[in-house]
Amino acid sequence: MNDEFIPMSRPYLGREEIDAIIDVVKSGWITTGPKCAELEENFARYTGALQALTLSSGTAGMHLVLKALGIGNNDEVITPSITFASTVNQIVLAGAKPVFADVDYDTLLVRPEEIEKRITKHTKAIIPVHFAGAPADMDAIESIARDIPVIEDAAHAVGTFYKGRHIGWKNLAVYSFHPIKNITTAEGGMITGSDKDFMARVKLMRFHGIERDAWKRYGRASDPSYDITEPGHKYNMTDIQAALGTVQLRKIDQINEIRSNIANRYLNELASIDGLDLPGRPQYDHVHSWHLFVVKILSMDRPAFMEALARDNIGYGLHFPACHRLSYVRRLFGDIDLPETEAASQKILSLPLYPGMSDENITRVIETIKGILA
Ligand SMILES: Cc1ncc(COP(=O)(O)O)c(C=O)c1O
Repeated sequence: MNDEFIPMSRPYLGREEIDAIIDVVKSGWITTGPKCAELEENFARYTGALQALTLSSGTAGMHLVLKALGIGNNDEVITPSITFASTVNQIVLAGAKPVFADVDYDTLLVRPEEIEKRITKHTKAIIPVHFAGAPADMDAIESIARDIPVIEDAAHAVGTFYKGRHIGWKNLAVYSFHPIKNITTAEGGMITGSDKDFMARVKLMRFHGIERDAWKRYGRASDPSYDITEPGHKYNMTDIQAALGTVQLRKIDQINEIRSNIANRYLNELASIDGLDLPGRPQYDHVHSWHLFVVKILSMDRPAFMEALARDNIGYGLHFPACHRLSYVRRLFGDIDLPETEAASQKILSLPLYPGMSDENITRVIETIKGILA
């Protein structure tokens, strides 16, 4: 066995990130403040969105958006089953019903026609996922959605472009900066949107319902009083996290280029192996951010394959256990028929992919897989 463990993911952090954090700590203002404002401005500019709001997590963002849209009892929200359970949890916690649309077996992206089939008079939102960093087919989804709000789950998709523009530039989009993601703030997230009134409401709900930012209320000779017209949550990001995010965002092109190079090595060097399906690519014009490299294991049981990788000290991930199969989802909503999701979900496995991965490590992963499946 090789002594060096190759993890599935590792954040790409260096001296600049450390210095940025030290500067914030020295400044005396460490929670939400000017650094969050700077990250919001830079992120909006990068994605082409009108406005961006920093958050404590992507999950918090989904909670706020569902709440601001007034989604609750008797409402339905359409989303794929191959997604992180946090989205489904938030739908259910809001009192609404998750309605699962099938994905395309090859790309694992939600199929617009499968969304269309499931629209009813109760449908209050559609949440496509830009899975693994590939964009969902937004033109098709938007034309099907008509007046139904579309919330883009962009957790995997910083640096994902669809037909020449960054995803999420005009709809509501929710990003995650968890350490596995292409850029990280340790924990954290972002909502982007173009409706000023809606974003103002989200901003209010993000911090107790208090109108004025704390860093302004506690500034020199300012008025510390406030009123609350509607109770809110505490989902703000700190300036320590935002300083990290600002440095990371500056490096996004470099980070995604390295990710893309690793993905291309996998695509080229694993192509000739029997018993393995490589990730399918959407046919429309796009830039993939290669957040994940998800293969399907065909010629052996996935647990046995995972065991063999583990024996060789190689990490892996599972993105994601299908949500319609989670115990509580089955208990509440019964069995749901999703043929392509079912066909894929028992076979998928995420291979190591992160910017600090050495050429030797990439070779080791490829050779190990060849050996296991030979
Ligand atoms: C597809 C997807 N949606 C939402 C989330 C939630 O993001 P967070 O962990 O920042 O709450 C994740 C995070 O793993 C994700 O992968």
